Amino acid sequence: MTDSLPDSNLNSSLKPGIKEMQPLIAESLPLQGCHLIEASAGTGKTYNITRIYLRLLLEEKLDVKNILVMTFTRAATEELRGRIAREIRNALDKWGHFDKNDTFFAALTEKFTIEDVNPVLHNALLHLDEASIFTIHSFCKRVLSQQAFSSGVDFNVQMETDTAEIELEAVRDWYRTLAYKHKADEGFTNDYQLLIQYWPAPDNFRKAFSDLLSSTTPVQANTPESIQADFQQQKSECLQHLQAHQSFVFEVLIDSHKEKFARTDEWQVLMNWLNSDFFELSEISSQTMPKEAAAVFNGNRYGRKPADIKQQLLDLFAPVKQLKEDAAEIEKQIEKSRSYQIAAQGIDFIRRKISQAKQRARVMNYDDLINQLAAAAAKENNLTQLIKEQYPVALVDEFQDTDPQQYAILKAVYQSSKNAATDDSTPGALYMIGDPKQAIYAFRSGDVFTYLAARDDADKQWLMDTNWRSSSNMVNAYNRLFYGASLPSENESGTAQDVFGFDIQYIPVKAADKADKTPLTFAAGSAANKQIRSNAALQLIYFPFNEDYRSGRSKKEEMTQNFCS
Ligand SMILES: Nc1ncnc2c1ncn2[C@@H]1O[C@H](COP(=O)(O)OP(=O)(O)OP(=O)(O)O)[C@@H](O)[C@H]1O
Ligand SMILES: [Mg+2]
Repeated sequence: MTDSLPDSNLNSSLKPGIKEMQPLIAESLPLQGCHLIEASAGTGKTYNITRIYLRLLLEEKLDVKNILVMTFTRAATEELRGRIAREIRNALDKWGHFDKNDTFFAALTEKFTIEDVNPVLHNALLHLDEASIFTIHSFCKRVLSQQAFSSGVDFNVQMETDTAEIELEAVRDWYRTLAYKHKADEGFTNDYQLLIQYWPAPDNFRKAFSDLLSSTTPVQANTPESIQADFQQQKSECLQHLQAHQSFVFEVLIDSHKEKFARTDEWQVLMNWLNSDFFELSEISSQTMPKEAAAVFNGNRYGRKPADIKQQLLDLFAPVKQLKEDAAEIEKQIEKSRSYQIAAQGIDFIRRKISQAKQRARVMNYDDLINQLAAAAAKENNLTQLIKEQYPVALVDEFQDTDPQQYAILKAVYQSSKNAATDDSTPGALYMIGDPKQAIYAFRSGDVFTYLAARDDADKQWLMDTNWRSSSNMVNAYNRLFYGASLPSENESGTAQDVFGFDIQYIPVKAADKADKTPLTFAAGSAANKQIRSNAALQLIYFPFNEDYRSGRSKKEEMTQNFCS
């Protein structure tokens, strides 16, 4: 493993979108346009936000009130405020005698004298309490109240973080509506029966769909017809696949076998079943694959074949094995889809009820805030223009946690120049700074697909590839872990494995070697080290996979829960 990565090899193994990323240089980063900055933990995301902030104060002459800095938790906003304050103080203290190697301050000192800088930075420090450093929720709340007229939102409402009771009452209302439809002589309606089969009480329903109930995106359930059509398609693909390899199957499993004729019959049963139509079968009352058909790919028949033949047969039969499992479930799936269709209609009804109830009680929760601002920003009005005038520049830290509605707001404000329908000519800049690898579990309802869409939308994409926090051994270890293969070196061109999925590529980071000078060490077993261990930059947790997950709550689930809490 090498400490510094040969850039040429690395670049050749990157996907096209990522190749366009340029290393971020804080002193020359354009102060206009829409920028995505992608970086792993400890590579200086927050560090560079403070530097860009400094440039905005000095070069763009922006007031602290007009630079919007957003992140996702209150604690993170306070950390950001503290680090910005430290950076400003550092600049004031050292102006004119910075470290020679610090190219950022070298560039700034060429442009500004201490006389230029003093009043601007002192003024910024003085008013830093009023700086626009917000969580996304407090930003929405502020905009809606300041721009009540343009947003059209009645802001004479109370913030209520817990609206569970209102939601539950709306769900109960819907259950009652369905239940009351029954006729005295026929009992409950079919719809009601379908509903309570999966969600016996309103509370079960609310828990199952709580995310959907608080969002506004249209809900669509699979129809029984679409499930049938997909299944039919899967059958015909399997049929074609097996027919294409028929001669191989006959050669190794049928022709040379003493029960050649019985096996030929089984093959025919399988072909007939794959050829059959869903409705034909539903008359026979089951979609299950006949036993004789399944015998064709029974593993006992080729378990002792030479390894390469066995592997070929395993690969060849994988789709039909899957189909057999799916066939056993298909009727249940279709039955379930009828219930989900009722649920989808219910979600529409319940959303309307919740919204009416909240308006009556004049309350809003955080999701409503975001939804309402997104809806207001999407309408033809001057709201986005007003927001951009107030905050010409926005920096969003931990951008990977942004959900689609939140991104829609940012996009409407800062990318409106791309939209020919608006004649917004206010210059502005948006910096989205994040690490998509940290969003893969949709933590805090962040959405990695939003991140990937934003990456495509950005005018420029930047990259930070040096870890300033961890020792080189640590950096090497997690490079190897997340690259999923040996790293490219002078002699070899390693190929990254798809460790994260979702088209997220791991870009190996370099070690700054800064942490090597003060390594974090501890002697095993000492009591004081428990705390140090829990702060370690990388922890590996071993999940034993040999348990039976079907019985109760699995150990894996329990460990995941403990780890995340
Ligand atoms: N260019 C740099 N030169 C020197 N030190 C740096 C540089 N960039 C970052 N650092 C230092 O490295 C450490 C990590 O930086 P920072 O907190 O900005 O990383 P981050 O990418 O925001 O991390 P996280 O993913 O945890 O939010 C800090 O101590 C910071 O001062
Ligand atoms: Mg950070």
